[in-house]
Amino acid sequence: MIVATSRSSRESLRLVELPSRPLRADELRVRVRAIGVNPVDWKMREGGPLGTAQRLIGPPGPLVVGIDFAGEVVEVGSAVERPRPGDRVVGGTDFSRKQRGSYADEVIVRPDQCAELPASVSFEEAACLPVAGVTAWRWLDEADIASKPGARVLVLGASGGVGLFALQLARSYGATVVGVCSARNAPLVTRLGATALDYNQGDPLEAAARLGPFDLVLNAVGSAVYPSASCRSLLCATGLLGLVVVRPADYPALVTSRRTKTLLGKPTREILEPLVAALVKREIEAIIEATFPLAEAEEAHARSRAGKVVGKLLLVP
Ligand SMILES: NC(=O)c1ccc[n+]([C@@H]2O[C@H](COP(=O)([O-])OP(=O)(O)OC[C@H]3O[C@@H](n4cnc5c(N)ncnc54)[C@H](OP(=O)(O)O)[C@@H]3O)[C@@H](O)[C@H]2O)c1
Repeated sequence: MIVATSRSSRESLRLVELPSRPLRADELRVRVRAIGVNPVDWKMREGGPLGTAQRLIGPPGPLVVGIDFAGEVVEVGSAVERPRPGDRVVGGTDFSRKQRGSYADEVIVRPDQCAELPASVSFEEAACLPVAGVTAWRWLDEADIASKPGARVLVLGASGGVGLFALQLARSYGATVVGVCSARNAPLVTRLGATALDYNQGDPLEAAARLGPFDLVLNAVGSAVYPSASCRSLLCATGLLGLVVVRPADYPALVTSRRTKTLLGKPTREILEPLVAALVKREIEAIIEATFPLAEAEEAHARSRAGKVVGKLLLVP
């Protein structure tokens, strides 16, 4: 198998050949056709909490980052009933199960980490879903938006991977959505059914206050830019502030405020299945900014690090 790896965070990702290993009974082998890039991929290379966890409990080196993948099942272990060889799937790798990441032409995962794909969904669209879509899904679920008639959702970072899925899912549940983005992304955010607020035109939280109160304020940018106390002041009595990005300064609020939470967008079959169904029904669409060959993963990381990606970046092995 071919993977993208580097010996240190200072060294560029490069393709190397590694031996494939035999499957265990509960595993399946997927020939990867498209890989979604997430900020966590380059953050893991730089260390940080997930990078440290990866080193402590992940598989032995070399480090292969990446979570999102879509592709075809080529082999299944003796205990796997579904999916079957030949099925098209989307999923996420999990280092806590000692699995290598998805920047590869082949991944080995378990059935509960992937969902089957109908022919109407391309590998490219599907590969946008795992981390960003599952994260958005979990937050709307956490705030119970689908069962709150007239719910209002504010998405900070509405044009990013998580933000675009959050705003579209919220709209599909019938919520009123306000999305904070820059002027260049306002037409997209508006087309997808949200009210766009330009963060370069005055204080967007002040502008949002006139459109609230909100059942969910989803902060996908960070509390250094959108302070949590200001975000909480926009909530209705039962509202929730979701911190998609967490830094140490957020820990006290996460412990003391019932209304401030964080969670992990870990891809599971359970959540990927309804996301795939939403793609099929065109309730959500995958916005792809650019696709790179896997050999150019370093360029994709540089683009993601710059923080201006609209929707998703993909890699193709
Ligand atoms: N906890 C978890 O499980 C989890 C899961 C997924 C992601 N995350 C984290 O959440 C963050 C967002 O992830 P992502 O994949 O959505 O990132 P992303 O796609 O890279 O986000 C980029 C977007 O952010 C927008 N943006 C930048 N500054 C902004 C500002 N001040 N106000 C509003 N929008 C702004 C950019 O729009 P402009 O170009 O217009 O500025 C761009 O479209 C990352 O830090 C990621 O690591 C955590």
